Amino acid sequence: MKSLLLLLVGTSLFAAAHSFFLIYSQPNSGNHDLIVGGREYNDRLIYSENVTESFQWSGMKLIINRTVEAPPNFQVTQVKCINAVQDGTGAEANIASGGPGLGWVTIRFKSQRWRGIYFGVEVYARPTY
Ligand SMILES: *[C@@H]1O[C@H](CO)[C@@H](O)[C@H](O)[C@H]1NC(C)=O
Ligand SMILES: *[C@@H]1O[C@H](CO)[C@@H](O)[C@H](O)[C@H]1NC(C)=O
Repeated sequence: MKSLLLLLVGTSLFAAAHSFFLIYSQPNSGNHDLIVGGREYNDRLIYSENVTESFQWSGMKLIINRTVEAPPNFQVTQVKCINAVQDGTGAEANIASGGPGLGWVTIRFKSQRWRGIYFGVEVYARPTY
């Protein structure tokens, strides 16, 4: 009987802690800008886009990607994704593959539930010769 009570108390403490975590972990910290690599001598802007994707009525998280290929004999120097939403409800941007030092980059954007994706994206590259 005593152990059952302990179990119940333990379970509800866990449930309380869990909902506390759920509440305070949102909005997530994914409102940060993604800036990888640095500008280098002789590099130039090879791609710029305002990536915008409206939220899903179903509340599903949106996941989209962009692949940017550098011209032949160029390599990416910097990938810059500036989040237009800075209040904590913005999407996350990550490098899925490629990036600085390579000939391409794939960026993956993931929204929060019932939120869209709004990023200003710039990719710079320099000649390898
Ligand atoms: C992105 O939006 C900004 C501000 O609205 C604008 O100044 C800029 O020209 C846009 N960039 C592109 C690539 O459309
Ligand atoms: C990237 O996006 C395209 C369509 O925009 C989709 O077909 C493809 O499966 C996506 N790739 C990944 C790795 O998510």
